[in-house]
Amino acid sequence: MPRRSVHKAPFISFEGGEGAGKTTQADLLRQRLESSNIPVLLVREPGTTQLGEQVRNIIKSRNNVPAADALLFMAARAQLMNDIIVPNLRKGTTVVCDRFSDSTIAYQGYGGSLNLDRLKHANELATNEVVPDLTILLDVPPETGLNRRDVADKSTGETQRRFEELPIRFHRNVRRGYLELAGHEPNRWIRIDGSRDPKEVAQDVWQHASEFFDL
Ligand code: TMP
Repeated sequence: MPRRSVHKAPFISFEGGEGAGKTTQADLLRQRLESSNIPVLLVREPGTTQLGEQVRNIIKSRNNVPAADALLFMAARAQLMNDIIVPNLRKGTTVVCDRFSDSTIAYQGYGGSLNLDRLKHANELATNEVVPDLTILLDVPPETGLNRRDVADKSTGETQRRFEELPIRFHRNVRRGYLELAGHEPNRWIRIDGSRDPKEVAQDVWQHASEFFDL
């Protein structure tokens, strides 16, 4: 049974730990939708709006306590929701989001030990209770993801490494969080093994997304 939100078009989020391949897969899904003549917009969190990109810089360049991080992510989310996501869904454009509310639950909740219910309420405030229709969890063991990230950052010269530098325990908790969230809402989440070749992963993503929305 295809599911649709209250909006005219699907809202799809990608989630996962560091180096899971979300950015690559979100872009591949965008390309695939475009080549099927489905209007689509790719956005990222934090980012896309001016406020979101500023939050991204703050988040990546300095250490904050988890509650400060959570509130910064929420501020970016509220702006992105209001300015970009909702208007596009309303006009019938599919929105693909590279991370959304579940990232805060996984990272600042399971990873940073903030109270999960409080974070859920803050998310409701930021999103006006809109949740993605489909959330694709790219699941990779943290060691694999962090290793991929190290290789990529060395080759691009990326120096802004914040969450990547946290102990492995943090990343294991983030993964456990994602798996629990996916287990609680099996109608919204699809777990895909992200440790495989990106082309294979992309095929799985397309198969699930096209079936889910009857595309
Ligand atoms: P990325 O988009 O390149 O993965 O970078 C965003 C970083 O911010 C990533 O390390 C995950 C982290 N993050 C959170 O901790 N909580 C959030 O709510 C979001 C959206 C991202």
